[in-house]
Amino acid sequence: MSNAFMALAYAGSNIVTSPHLFGNTFAFFQFTLAEFGVEVRFVDTDDLSAIENAIDENTCAFFCEVLTNPHLEIADLANISPILKKHNVPMVVDTTVIPWCGFDAKKFGVDIEVVSTTKYISGGATSLGGAIVDYGSFDWSKHPRLKKVTPQAPFSVFMFKIKREIARNFGANMDPDTAFFQSLGLETLTLRYEKMSKNAYELAKFLETLPQIMKVSYTQLDSSPYKKLSDEMFKDHPGAMLTFDLKDQATCFAFMDKLQLIKRATNLFDNNSLIIHPASTIYGTFTAEMRKVIGIEDTLIRMSVGLEELEDIKADILQALQ
Ligand SMILES: Cc1ncc(COP(=O)(O)O)c(C=O)c1O
Repeated sequence: MSNAFMALAYAGSNIVTSPHLFGNTFAFFQFTLAEFGVEVRFVDTDDLSAIENAIDENTCAFFCEVLTNPHLEIADLANISPILKKHNVPMVVDTTVIPWCGFDAKKFGVDIEVVSTTKYISGGATSLGGAIVDYGSFDWSKHPRLKKVTPQAPFSVFMFKIKREIARNFGANMDPDTAFFQSLGLETLTLRYEKMSKNAYELAKFLETLPQIMKVSYTQLDSSPYKKLSDEMFKDHPGAMLTFDLKDQATCFAFMDKLQLIKRATNLFDNNSLIIHPASTIYGTFTAEMRKVIGIEDTLIRMSVGLEELEDIKADILQALQ
């Protein structure tokens, strides 16, 4: 994220994005970049005219997550893309939660993909990493900052800027050991992704039947307002992240303390099922007011469904609820 936005943003520029972002992305935009004179314009990404109205000649990028973490909302990228093209704004999307085997980003108008490879790609929490993909679909000679770099660049101006300048000067490079682990992870990506995603769907349907659970969010469920978009964009596999709500924070904590198989951890898409209470962890340093703006409730539990037998996952949840 930092490499990508150090290349795109500049003092006086703005980023049009959703307020529903992974906690550190929100903090990076709102606090870190803001101190360097970059304005963040939060919009409801379901509202196409709000996106268009927020854009001006200093918009350096539109940014969103392909499926927001942990709200599980989907931006209609295919319909946002023509608006961005009209105004020469690159579409930058964090696809960490739906990897390449589950989503054809280029087909939906994504120009730049930013991925935390710590998650699905690493092959089970072996290592930390990130990747940036430039699909070659954006004309950088029309970008307010990168048009100045164009004459010297032998390949994508954006990647040229990152490889030759930003990564060297800031040091966010992947080391060879990490690259080795991550390339091993890539070899089993599709297998793991499909099994985890199937487990998540079956588990989500099961959770909906339990009286102690107030609400379940998973985009493949008929109850999800994003079901249609999810089917169009991710087909049968909308990933391994789901959320559910219990009565209150104390109930969430008591439930999590009783779990035996499912591990409490902030990571996502490990081989093991992981669980977290976002309001007190990822968003724990945010004020209650900010959590309200971002839409993080005290009753929410996020789960990353792993590769275990589905019946074992269900049994662990049932005994903890009881
Ligand atoms: C959507 C998304 N983007 C980025 C990140 C950051 O990943 P990393 O821990 O590899 O920095 C996360 C981590 O949870 C995430 O969920």
